[in-house]
Amino acid sequence: MQKKLVAPSLLASDFANLQRDIEMVNQSDADWFHLDIMDGVFVPNISFGMPVVQAMAKHAQKPLDVHLMIVDPDRYIKTFAKLGVHHLTVHYEACPHLHRTLQAIKAEGMKAGVALNPHTPVSLLEDIIQDIDIVIVMSVNPGFGGQSFIENTYQKVKDLKALIERKNSCALIEIDGGVNDANAKKLVDAGADVLVAGSFVFKSDNPSQTIKKLKEKIA
Ligand code: DX5
Ligand code: ZN
Repeated sequence: MQKKLVAPSLLASDFANLQRDIEMVNQSDADWFHLDIMDGVFVPNISFGMPVVQAMAKHAQKPLDVHLMIVDPDRYIKTFAKLGVHHLTVHYEACPHLHRTLQAIKAEGMKAGVALNPHTPVSLLEDIIQDIDIVIVMSVNPGFGGQSFIENTYQKVKDLKALIERKNSCALIEIDGGVNDANAKKLVDAGADVLVAGSFVFKSDNPSQTIKKLKEKIA
């Protein structure tokens, strides 16, 4: 079975000590850096943009997993590729021509991801799942860290896993929002491959230890 991964979300890090927090993740058992880009239009919050991603990329020694919570993401695909991003995820709800968008991401040499808001059914991916490398299942409404986990996510992950298997897709299932040590194991048992964790990691007393324990829990 494929190794289960943990991707700390830098949204919950200390922006005044970004380099310190990135080094902590470099040295930890974490697998990817999860970067949340919000435009204040698709979601009611603004996080950080290209100059900050560029600064992060300079220090990060693990893959950059970028989650775009923005309208019309096609405008910035080439820019993120140039910044050294490894995985670029767009929202299903923001892409009227999703197939074209995914091809454009792959043409730039990146893995292509699709994120689903909590109200968006996985069945809508039926005709595109074979073209997707990563599905991010939002387990909170996107826009903010530190929200509580939506319980319906477990069923959604099971349905998505069944769809992926039925269609012989290689897509990884990534869970984003409210992940902690109380739901991690259950998510992986339901079919999740990657867990994003923001507040649970960075607001803990010992973030590196928290990552280690989370990894052990889902090993
Ligand atoms: C929410 C973001 C998440 C967020 C998760 O819109 O997509 O990646 O950083 O934060 P926690 O783990 O605190 O819910
Ligand atoms: Zn995210």
